[in-house]
Amino acid sequence: MTVYPVTDNFAAEIGDIDLSIPLTEADRTEIAMAFDRYSVLVFPDQHFSTDQHLDFARNFGPLETTIHAVRSGAKLRVRPEIADVSNLDAGEAIWGKDSRKRMFEMGNRMWHTDSSFRRVPAKASLLYARSIPPVGGHTEFADMRAAYDALSDDMKQRLRGLVAEHAIMHSRRKLGFNDFSDEENQTLPPVPQAMVRRHAGSGRTGLYLASHAGRIFGMKDEEGKALLQQLIEHATQRQFVYTHRWRLHDLVMWDNRCTMHRGKGYDDLRWPRDMQRATVSDVAPTCEQEGIAVPVAA
Ligand code: OGA
Ligand code: MN
Repeated sequence: MTVYPVTDNFAAEIGDIDLSIPLTEADRTEIAMAFDRYSVLVFPDQHFSTDQHLDFARNFGPLETTIHAVRSGAKLRVRPEIADVSNLDAGEAIWGKDSRKRMFEMGNRMWHTDSSFRRVPAKASLLYARSIPPVGGHTEFADMRAAYDALSDDMKQRLRGLVAEHAIMHSRRKLGFNDFSDEENQTLPPVPQAMVRRHAGSGRTGLYLASHAGRIFGMKDEEGKALLQQLIEHATQRQFVYTHRWRLHDLVMWDNRCTMHRGKGYDDLRWPRDMQRATVSDVAPTCEQEGIAVPVAA
């Protein structure tokens, strides 16, 4: 296995490894070490089945089930352990212009970190490119550890112990999307998340933010939202961002604990883009990990 840094300590490419076969303990350790340092690992030219994709992901922890599985009547194109990030419908055709799935997935164009709307959010996402458009459809990643380091000491003080409320409804509502069933509203209630996290593998500190964050506990809505917006703008400045230009059969594994990402546009009514994601859960709610008492909702 060889590790080629793309940037000093945010993104790296990993070669000389075939992820379709079970990892040796040595490879697993080496990947875990690279993942402590780099937040985005790119494994080019991987060829595997869905089972092999999921098996590789399981090396890093338990898998999530897609939130679309909670909506009764929803027909999934792929298995529930895969988040279907494609522009295809259950019949493998390009989605309709006004389809619910297309409107829902527009949310991925906003800066976010995966599953911060779950009590135990995602630790890692492993996104695999089964087909890509000839132009566009890049994915941008923001380095939340570097962004934290660059904050003033005053701001770091101010953020200590702050908790934001995250919900999938918050991010979707920002785009005017409201098509949630009672069932979804009940299974995906707002959850508290620490705004600053210590990254276990590196000991570094990072901001933890997302489009899913709606307000900050203990602050007026206006003040909390303004602060969230200011921090997201800070963290997504050019110097903190790596843009991934996909090649067919790239597997990209990123660390949701210390990054945000967003999908860029492409002609999604013309080109199929079949991206499938396996998602590994974190170990505990973020407030618990940070030793912060969960604030009581106002
Ligand atoms: C994701 C995601 C963006 C993209 O898979 O979690 O946000 O570019 N993807 O497909
Ligand atoms: Mn995502």
